Amino acid sequence: MHIQLASLGFGNVGRALAAMLTEKAGELQRRYDLAFTFTGAFTRSAGGWIASGAHGIAAVDLAASGWPGSGALPAGAQPFSGDALAFIAACPADVVLELTTLDPHTGQPATDHIRAALAAGRHVVTANKGPIAYAYRELWALAAQHGVALRFESAVIDGTPIFNMAEASLPATVISGFRGLLNSTSNYVLSRMALGESLETAIAGAQRLGVAEANPANDLEGWDGAVKATILANVLMGADLRPGDIERSGLGAEAMRQAQAALLPGQTLKQVVTAAREGESVRAAVRLEPLPPSDLFAHLSGMDSALLLHTDTMQDLTIIEGEGGPGQTAFGVIADLVTIAKTSPRPSGTPLP
Ligand SMILES: NC(=O)c1ccc[n+]([C@@H]2O[C@H](COP(=O)([O-])OP(=O)(O)OC[C@H]3O[C@@H](n4cnc5c(N)ncnc54)[C@H](OP(=O)(O)O)[C@@H]3O)[C@@H](O)[C@H]2O)c1
Repeated sequence: MHIQLASLGFGNVGRALAAMLTEKAGELQRRYDLAFTFTGAFTRSAGGWIASGAHGIAAVDLAASGWPGSGALPAGAQPFSGDALAFIAACPADVVLELTTLDPHTGQPATDHIRAALAAGRHVVTANKGPIAYAYRELWALAAQHGVALRFESAVIDGTPIFNMAEASLPATVISGFRGLLNSTSNYVLSRMALGESLETAIAGAQRLGVAEANPANDLEGWDGAVKATILANVLMGADLRPGDIERSGLGAEAMRQAQAALLPGQTLKQVVTAAREGESVRAAVRLEPLPPSDLFAHLSGMDSALLLHTDTMQDLTIIEGEGGPGQTAFGVIADLVTIAKTSPRPSGTPLP
């Protein structure tokens, strides 16, 4: 089966995806009879292109073009003039990839991109947390209405199988809560402070490694954790929260400095996300927690992410990702694409060579 991809956003994750689709092309063909091509891509500053032939452009050729950084379109692409919504309407594709920048306060404009793609009968795979945190129920219903899939494995802990594992491998299981180390920037900075570095030096180190953004406030003040907690609570526990509903107290740079200084011998400070069912509702929080040596999370490095699920079948189930990044995120997108190919009909229904 040949699957056409249109990508909104083509940064670190888009490039890693093109590289992994190139590397795994043989494996995907052999194991699943799947071939992927890009029929178009669009970014905020470079604008867009649409492949002139129905077959689309192979990932290897897109990667070789160096677009958008090189300024050169891949061979066989025509420039597209118009905005993102016009691109979604114009680009023929089985799956729209939403790989644009996260806005943790609104989830926009990515939510509008996904609405438009689903309404146009395209499957959607996104690594962008915003739309899932702010509009999961609405987008899920829209996908169901149009008979297409909405998948987002990479929205939490890169491509670590959380949603796919819960869906495929935890049948009839009730998840009553979770606990996670979900923000690498905060936990990297705390691990460097534990080694005696100042907060400023630790943040600068995280920025040099590409872990922290130029303005790390969204991470240190718990917004990134709140967005992830919202997604996990809504998808895995049936809650209907928004990031503003997540308790965020005692966070931020000054709180980190004070909490680090107040640690007792043997304790390790981490930014921890928690959720628990309370009656009919779900209560979730992002906090700085001093962890005793008996806590598994105390032993994870600053770059590790972890999620412990409280379940009624497997009891406590923990999954840990070592240092993540765009490669693992691209893998999550591919895992979602394979799931769509296995479980959903081609919306366009057009047989392609
Ligand atoms: N990097 C990771 O390891 C990772 C892990 C998990 C999840 N994610 C999520 O995956 C998404 C992509 O991450 P990334 O690392 O690839 O980001 P990135 O390198 O900053 O790339 C973002 C891309 O989106 C484009 N873009 C931004 N706003 C847009 C808009 N309004 N319309 C069209 N294009 C737009 C950017 O274009 P311009 O450059 O022209 O602005 C760029 O091509 C983000 O939502 C991120 O939170 C990333």
